[in-house]
Amino acid sequence: MGKTIIISNRLPVQLQISNGKINAVPSVGGLATGMKSVHSGGESLWIGWSGLTDEETPHELDQNIDDALKEHGCAKVSLNAQEVEGFYFGFSNRTIWPLFHYFMEYSEFELDFWNTYKAVNQKFADAIIEKSNDDDTIWVHDYQLMLVPQMVREKRPKTSIGFFLHIPFPSYEIFRTLPWRREVLEGLLGSDLIGFHTYDYERHFLSSVRRILGLEVSFNDIFMDNRVIKVDSFPMGIDYRKFKNAALDHDKNQKSDLQERLDSHKASAPDTKLILSIDRLDYSKGIAKRINAFEYFLNKYPEYKEKVRLIILAVPSRSNVPQYQLLKREVDELVGRINGEISTVNWTPIWYFYRSLGFESLIDLYTTSDIAWLTPLRDGMNLVAKEYIATRTDKTGVLILSEMAGSAYEMNEALLINPNNFEQQADTLKRAINMPEEEQMARNTFLQNRLERYNVEVWANEFMKALKQKSSVVRNTFVA
Ligand code: ADP
Ligand code: G6P
Repeated sequence: MGKTIIISNRLPVQLQISNGKINAVPSVGGLATGMKSVHSGGESLWIGWSGLTDEETPHELDQNIDDALKEHGCAKVSLNAQEVEGFYFGFSNRTIWPLFHYFMEYSEFELDFWNTYKAVNQKFADAIIEKSNDDDTIWVHDYQLMLVPQMVREKRPKTSIGFFLHIPFPSYEIFRTLPWRREVLEGLLGSDLIGFHTYDYERHFLSSVRRILGLEVSFNDIFMDNRVIKVDSFPMGIDYRKFKNAALDHDKNQKSDLQERLDSHKASAPDTKLILSIDRLDYSKGIAKRINAFEYFLNKYPEYKEKVRLIILAVPSRSNVPQYQLLKREVDELVGRINGEISTVNWTPIWYFYRSLGFESLIDLYTTSDIAWLTPLRDGMNLVAKEYIATRTDKTGVLILSEMAGSAYEMNEALLINPNNFEQQADTLKRAINMPEEEQMARNTFLQNRLERYNVEVWANEFMKALKQKSSVVRNTFVA
């Protein structure tokens, strides 16, 4: 039996070098945090980019870097600064990310970005071919590597290849504006199985395949040459036990500085509700709109001034991309203006942190906040919503979640909102603040049961099971 090879741009750890020492820090983002649990439990090799460019990597540390990654079951694909610029900051995050999140006006169609994307995808494919055998199963992840399945297929026609997209697949009307739409679809169709978070993304993809490539599609099977490619939705879960147990241990462990601060805040203002939002600093997450909606809420219901505090934790992300720099400035200014205008001697309405926090601090925030308010304008899944619910071991807490997040499809008991509707959000915040504990507990019981049942392990197993079934069907067909 062969091994499983996971391949993604972002590895579960990022390497940093300081004073000649290599340090591996956990990566942020749904793909890395979710797949990490799958990877650590099994016999897989994870191939990806270390997070450092060749120029940042002293040659004499090459072996140490390989060893550091090996400890985490990983192997690296090396990228130079020009490749990172065109492939990662360029085509991945200035073309595909905005387009697939319906920010068409941000999407840049640059031939240089595309050429580098192709070249770097070939590097990843070559790394797979070098490190795998025919009987291995290859699982390719996300929008940075959409050409890899076809590139591997050319050299390894019999290998099982699965692909999972962690972001939305947009409607045909959006996707068809991409100059390289055919090549991207053909790249993906090198897979045996293509997975999406939701049925809607799957439907959009099938419609693009039918209309752009003119291929025959029957239910969720695509017929191409002598192959059948299966498409399905697999909503990604979280490592439920890990979050639940961390929350249970949290009360027994020594308190962190952050927890001390949160506790002292609670003690000094016992009636104040803490509202939490956690995201990478990304325009798709609707952070600026959320802050505006918060101001709208305080104007509509001024009786809640000094009775609520919004904690915004934003992780630095893709900071070489101009739109992210603009957003950083916008959020800084908004927070500064609102805090400047409405703070009182005893009250600052918004606490804003722009940094990555360790796992324990995330748990401090999840377990202490009365409300989680997550308002993406578009989000493939949004695992933060699931993590918040998993840590609410006494079943209290209210989740306000955007309808535009993939997770909203499975989290009907949350208070679902349209992030563009300020009126609705103000009323929903009021409702959340006043929701009786019995109602909170009833809603969270349903949510927790579902998250526990459909956890990340089940998600990965279902994908792998479908991939294995698919591969055996194709092989049987060949034999016949
Ligand atoms: P995305 O994948 O778009 O970043 P998700 O909500 O699906 O959004 O996943 C974000 C992941 O990153 C979650 O697992 C969350 O715990 C982690 N994370 C988010 N913010 C932070 C932070 N400030 N520090 C550390 N981890 C974070
Ligand atoms: C999303 C994407 C991932 C990506 C993550 C963090 O979850 O789907 O592919 O790894 O964001 O973004 P980054 O650009 O830092 O890898």
